[in-house]
Amino acid sequence: MGFPIHRPRRLRKNELIRSMVRETSLDVKDMVQPFFVVPGEKVVEPVKAMPGVFRYSVDTLIEEVKKTRDLGIPAVILFGIPEKKDPLATGAYDDNGIIQRAVRAIKEKVDGILVITDVCLCEYTSHGHCGLVKGKEIVNDATLELLAKTAVSHARAGADIVAPSDMMDGRVMAIREALDREGFVDVAIMSYSAKYASSFYGPFREAAESAPSFGDRRSYQMDPANAREAIREVGLDIEEGADIVMVKPALSYLDIIRVVRDSYLEVPIAAYSVSGEYSMIKIAGEAGVIDYKSVVLEVLTSIKRAGADIIITYFANEVATWLR
Ligand code: PBG
Repeated sequence: MGFPIHRPRRLRKNELIRSMVRETSLDVKDMVQPFFVVPGEKVVEPVKAMPGVFRYSVDTLIEEVKKTRDLGIPAVILFGIPEKKDPLATGAYDDNGIIQRAVRAIKEKVDGILVITDVCLCEYTSHGHCGLVKGKEIVNDATLELLAKTAVSHARAGADIVAPSDMMDGRVMAIREALDREGFVDVAIMSYSAKYASSFYGPFREAAESAPSFGDRRSYQMDPANAREAIREVGLDIEEGADIVMVKPALSYLDIIRVVRDSYLEVPIAAYSVSGEYSMIKIAGEAGVIDYKSVVLEVLTSIKRAGADIIITYFANEVATWLR
């Protein structure tokens, strides 16, 4: 039995009734704001490929993190650009490295916000790959130890959550064991579990100076054509001890967020709306070809509707001001 008994428009009559039956809503408490940290002082340097995004030194970062906290956003995620890069990514696990200094400064000066650190080697290796390189190969097992050292070093600086984004096999377990061994049993792991070899990371690689100097990341990041494999990757990370799992990118991967949500009830899911997603919308908005604000809200709502609990987005601070 359909029309005229059924008239779905009854529930769309006005905003009051629409708001009563709305299935999904955006909340500042679901959002994480990313930041890029560089050496130096008083640095506020625009990222060309990401209008409205800047790279900060530790001192200027502190002010931005305070603003983020005051907007009600519960967490920031930090990416570091070191003074120097080398084949062993020593800057990644240096207790005096850029991220370690940034985390310590935030923990000293800003209350009431969680600090998540991206755990990866690509910003710290001279070749720009996320693992150690032997010939043309990105080697898995030898990389695990360096990732674990990096995570422990972030925890020692005060990180609340570490987020491995390298896509080496077994890294969640290696990191969990190392954290526990050092007494950081309460530091959580947010794993980039289903991370695709995506071209949407282009603008980020300018911001983080992390483009690989040869080849690409397809021998460790996932094939964009695969969905079933995401279920496997997420399952392995949960078994290895991930507290939160992530799907990345978000917008072209809403089906993956949904299938992960339906496959695993036991963990929160984060979705990373990446640099390319940000820049497409930002630049189209500046060109006047889309209604910027409503497109941003529609896209972020769709990511929640797909099943994400947490959204990592460069729009977080701006959206928080709109939601107030
Ligand atoms: C590090 C890392 C990347 C991103 C997050 N962590 C880049 C990459 O894998 O090349 C991308 C984030 C973005 O595009 O916003 N491995």
